[in-house]
Amino acid sequence: MTPVKAVPSPRKIVVFSGSGVSAESGLPTFREAGGLWRQYAWEEVASPQGWQKHPEVVLEFYNERRRLAADAQPNAAHRAIAELERDFDVVVVTQNVDDLHERAGSTRVLHVHGELVFAKGEHSGLRQRIGAAPIRMGQLCPQGSQLRPDIVWFGESIEHYDEAQAHVASAARLLVVGTSLSVFPAASLVHAAPASADKVLIAPELDGAAPQGFEWLRGKATECVPQVVARWLEAGTTSAGT
Ligand code: APR
Repeated sequence: MTPVKAVPSPRKIVVFSGSGVSAESGLPTFREAGGLWRQYAWEEVASPQGWQKHPEVVLEFYNERRRLAADAQPNAAHRAIAELERDFDVVVVTQNVDDLHERAGSTRVLHVHGELVFAKGEHSGLRQRIGAAPIRMGQLCPQGSQLRPDIVWFGESIEHYDEAQAHVASAARLLVVGTSLSVFPAASLVHAAPASADKVLIAPELDGAAPQGFEWLRGKATECVPQVVARWLEAGTTSAGT
């Protein structure tokens, strides 16, 4: 991606998303009732320790999530976010590992927690695109190490953080949707926005208050995101808070 200007630009919009933006596409969130971390112990299926202990269990956990994501369709929230690119310079920073933003038409998506459609060698780190295909034990990267999901597990380093932070710091508008803001350092990104930026947070409920300076829209992504997008497209690039 091209180097990021630090100066806020009236045309720059960053969308920071979490699993809630894909909930209405049928994909599970993590911490709500019925969420993935209510069904599975993350230590067993989403950590280097779990991988060392039982790699076949970890592979199957992500094979199932990859299959579900491939069968899911982008929803009205994903599509509205993609529509913003008509008039704005948009970067989507997502904690999600599905590719629904891309399949809805977003062209600049930073996955800070990895991507289901990629695998990588467990020792080489060599990435390869696998789409919806499962990863099996014995499937090796070109350098001979076992393929693993290209996912950032608990305890591993987040991806694209500096680049994502620079985008947020140069945004005239920041839309945060579908995240409990409970996992760091990803959640700290929302505090990098300029004080003058127009900041909106969309979630049905929050643990605690919305971050300082944010307008909180209490609702679902497919209802609220199109409303915010319509407002911003209508206002254009002149009225942004910069
Ligand atoms: N529309 C908008 N928001 C929704 C919807 C919806 N239809 N349904 C649920 N939400 C909100 C919930 O209210 C909650 O605030 O989405 C959020 C989901 O929070 P989490 O389950 O904690 O998911 P997320 O914030 O994406 O988790 C962050 O944690 O385990 C790690 O790597 C994993 O990327 C993930 C990270």
